[in-house]
Amino acid sequence: TIVNTDMAKLGIIMNRRHFLGSAAAAAIVPCGVLAAPARYQLRAEPVIKQILPPGDGATRMLGFNGSMPGPELRVRRGQPLTVAVENGLEDGTAIHWHGIRLDNRMDGVPMLTQKTIPPKATHTYSFVPPDAGTFWYHSHYLSHEQVALGMMGPLIIEEDTPPDVDRDITVLISDWMMQEDGTLVGDFANRHSVAHGGYMGNYAKAFLSGQDVQIGDRVRFRLINAATNRIFPVTVGGVSGQIVALDGMALATPRPLSDLILAPAQRVDLIVDVTGRVTFDMITRQDPYLLAELVPVGTNANRTQAPVPPLPPHGLPQPAEPAQHLTLTMMGGAMGGRHGGDNIWAFNNVSDLPADPFGTFTQGETARITLVNDTSFAHGIHLHGHHFFEVGPDGALGDLRDTTLVSAGESRDILCVFDNPGKWLLHCHMLSHQVGGMKTWVSVA
Ligand code: C2O
Ligand code: CU
Repeated sequence: TIVNTDMAKLGIIMNRRHFLGSAAAAAIVPCGVLAAPARYQLRAEPVIKQILPPGDGATRMLGFNGSMPGPELRVRRGQPLTVAVENGLEDGTAIHWHGIRLDNRMDGVPMLTQKTIPPKATHTYSFVPPDAGTFWYHSHYLSHEQVALGMMGPLIIEEDTPPDVDRDITVLISDWMMQEDGTLVGDFANRHSVAHGGYMGNYAKAFLSGQDVQIGDRVRFRLINAATNRIFPVTVGGVSGQIVALDGMALATPRPLSDLILAPAQRVDLIVDVTGRVTFDMITRQDPYLLAELVPVGTNANRTQAPVPPLPPHGLPQPAEPAQHLTLTMMGGAMGGRHGGDNIWAFNNVSDLPADPFGTFTQGETARITLVNDTSFAHGIHLHGHHFFEVGPDGALGDLRDTTLVSAGESRDILCVFDNPGKWLLHCHMLSHQVGGMKTWVSVA
């Protein structure tokens, strides 16, 4: 589903004139990489970051350990991970480990799995990541503000035997609404934008965790869309290679690299050979908008350009015959019909978290959920604690994802093996839509 999507239909083509600065100004900023062992300290705190080109003003944001994005956390699959989160903000917070099939108590969702972490307090999360792949962490409290302000970072779970590559580079993409002096425009809950595509930036950029590549290198790129609302259509230049994973889950058969579509929270892993200057461009109606680039510093003559093998297979169970078939209808927003909820958006006529779950599943059962988008906007629907299979229109089992993009007016079936006990959020990852009411939860017991 990441190829040949009708981008205009998704409403994601932006006009380049809406952007400040020049494309050439999109700089490469390394994320901090912490070393093993798997015990991390993350202090949530205000940071000042040069988002705009040097010479333009710096931006007051939020981040972790003085950095935005937060430091890259990296452990081996199956290696226990402990993260002590210290709240250096004036507000509460909670941290969610997006896409990890973890113990429900560690999921980081206020109201559902924990209390918010008050200012000055520390809350320790511990879990054992069962799957290798590209994940990320972000605030799950007032997330439409806190994520927009920068409270997010990469969470990389390495394979037992990582693939044979020369470099492994994270590409974290986001956008910000900026004034020319670098001031972030903080109108996050503006009802007009909540009712439309959501709070979106006028400036976008990708942060790379490394920049040292040579022509001929084989590189794994891990793209993460950390934006609150923007769907990024991305084209990668200066490489030839394969798509090897989606939302952290290995593809059984890698696919030739083509244009990519990343809904908010989605990830795409590539393994490619460098053939020239590497560019990550957002596709727009006009010129491509450069998000980041890598200028090769030499030539690697030792690498033989063998075909890219698949990553080690994911260990998730195949779905069984579904025991339940539920329908989740997205409703509301501008140009949408009436609905019974009392916020801007709703699922099945209910806005915001209901007292009762949308679905109740016996641990291990497979369920089919038909996602119906009865609105005029695209939505990226995310289920916590599980991955699910997208089902094609022909009924064929598609990709395994934790976030699926459903265009305006479309429907998609998903099949999920609900094997992780607990209370799990199910929401639109356009975070403006989430705060506008598009969220519910399921119970697995
Ligand atoms: Cu990435 Cu409910 O979150
Ligand atoms: Cu949405």
